Amino acid sequence: MRRHEFLTALGVSAGTVIFAPFLVSCSKSSMNTIVPGPGGGTVDFTLDLTLSANAALNPVGGFLVSTNGVIVAHTDATTYAALASACTHQGYVVAYDNANTRFFCTNPAPGHGSLYKTNGVVISGPAPSALKMFNTTLTGTSLRVFA
Ligand code: FES
Repeated sequence: MRRHEFLTALGVSAGTVIFAPFLVSCSKSSMNTIVPGPGGGTVDFTLDLTLSANAALNPVGGFLVSTNGVIVAHTDATTYAALASACTHQGYVVAYDNANTRFFCTNPAPGHGSLYKTNGVVISGPAPSALKMFNTTLTGTSLRVFA
């Protein structure tokens, strides 16, 4: 059985994401996803919210990091935020803080810990620039994330 056939049999698609919010895979997706480069790029993928792989996005405050470098958070009942997941300081993955409605850099070392608004704008550094923001559209249980 070929890799694609195996993944298809498991219900894994281009929009499948990682459960652990602090892990980022290096694998590249095919289908309708183009991996964003350091300077940006095209992102266009759809998450099926009925899949267990995407269940983290169902409750408000939930978030996940896709395999193509995008963090998606469910920020209120009808709103999702999608940003590039790599901190603009030194590339550490960011996570979502629902209590404060913001994203934060997970680098625990002193001198890090940048905070970002849900639109990617830096609240506090040392991040030198905003996280790239992507559009989201929810249609039924399908969440499209695109540039
Ligand atoms: S890597 Fe994010 S603040 Fe330093």
